[in-house]
Amino acid sequence: MANDAYSKLMELYSEYSALGQVEMLMGWDLETYMPQGAAEMRGVQSSVVGAMRHRMITSRKVKGLLREASRSKGLTEVQRSSLRWLKREHERKTSIPETLVKDMAKLEPLSTRAWIKARNENDFKVFLPLLEKVFELRSKMAEHLGYSKTPYDALLEDFEPGMASSRAANILKGLRSSLVPMVRTIADKGETPDESMVRKGYGEKGQFDFGKRVLHDMGFDMEKGRIDTSAHPFTSGTYNDVRVTTRFDRKDLRSALFAFIHEGGHALYEQGLPKEHYGTPLGEAVSYGAHESQSRLWENQVGRSLPFWKHYAPILRKTFPNMKAVKLEQLYRAFNVVRPSFIRVEADELTYNLHIMVRFEIEKGAMEGKVDLNELPEVWDECYERYLGIRPPSVSQGCLQDIHWSMGLIGYFPTYSLGNLYAAQLMEAARRELRDLDGSIEKGRFGPLLSWLRENVHSKGRLYRAEDLMKRVTGKPLGEEAFISYMKAKFSDVYGLAL
Ligand code: CO
Repeated sequence: MANDAYSKLMELYSEYSALGQVEMLMGWDLETYMPQGAAEMRGVQSSVVGAMRHRMITSRKVKGLLREASRSKGLTEVQRSSLRWLKREHERKTSIPETLVKDMAKLEPLSTRAWIKARNENDFKVFLPLLEKVFELRSKMAEHLGYSKTPYDALLEDFEPGMASSRAANILKGLRSSLVPMVRTIADKGETPDESMVRKGYGEKGQFDFGKRVLHDMGFDMEKGRIDTSAHPFTSGTYNDVRVTTRFDRKDLRSALFAFIHEGGHALYEQGLPKEHYGTPLGEAVSYGAHESQSRLWENQVGRSLPFWKHYAPILRKTFPNMKAVKLEQLYRAFNVVRPSFIRVEADELTYNLHIMVRFEIEKGAMEGKVDLNELPEVWDECYERYLGIRPPSVSQGCLQDIHWSMGLIGYFPTYSLGNLYAAQLMEAARRELRDLDGSIEKGRFGPLLSWLRENVHSKGRLYRAEDLMKRVTGKPLGEEAFISYMKAKFSDVYGLAL
């Protein structure tokens, strides 16, 4: 019976999925509380769990069951979709030898530790040998996975299924041609907002309490999640155990605050996935781009908006006595300063995608053998000069700022830009469908927006491909128009210019 085969597959997948959650938990611990000395041990643990999962999904049993289940005529749309994902996972994983999976898992804690050390000591050489190993293993993986044009496509597929890198490159190019002139106009004609009021000095406890309150208001369920600190803010876990992290800058209010809201957006997505599909291929986020659309939507479209601060400015003034005299407009402008800067996660919305283009070009080049990793610091600095007109003063603020490559995440960066574009399209659609969205945000009521996102995005899990889902929800294929018009409207307002 084919339906029997389907049930057996789902049973297997639920174990595979549970082990994946164990991996996530170990990854979370690695970046939060794990003692440095435990890196080797964690590497062994991760490689054992990783290999177990690998064996599970690539087994002959799965292959046979897949064949059997796919023959059935009576499958529902949901079942067919589930099978499609499972088959894809099986085929991709089967093409990669288990030894390679183990090697990658062993390498990750060591390369992450080396990255942290290199960044702290501002010494690229500490990281270089490990980074070379990461790219070497990923290249091997790409060869096993197969590709038609560039090995980069094989890796991008992990993060944004169905998206070719040539399409991502085109989208980024289109963005750049609109964004660069806007950045220039603002630099030439815009009056730089005063930022001193968000750079005064803030205790960590005040920052934590304020951020936690915002997360709570957004709808983050603390019974099913935690907030901690890490070198690089991230969200991990799913459903009833979702963990977000932030980091604190005592001299700049924005660093922790927007990390809170950003990670909160990721967390709401995970907490809102369809319960009926928990432990199946459909009970997972659809793509990294879609994930990032949730974080960026909350961080920027909501968290950096005037209505949002109408509600939170009085609370902020109460939390931090040194903010007592701050006016709403000042805050709004200080949270939306446009300035080419070195650190991606702290970049404004307008220049953010330029940071992504640098990484996309470099990692794609390195995968294709066109960028020599020995020269990464120089290549990086040159790209920053070309795209943002600035040169990082140190490798810590240059090519060592992001954790991704140390974790083997090559092909991940473009999803950040895709997320920005998805977010703009989603927000445009939400504004169309929800009555007085800004009015409710102004009152600190995020329920209507969250319900809309729950219904249209979160609860769909992986029923559709990311681009198809977005098209269903927004009525338009993925493009840069919504994002560009949002940028124009917002920064014309912030800077009093006609962009
Ligand atoms: Co994110």
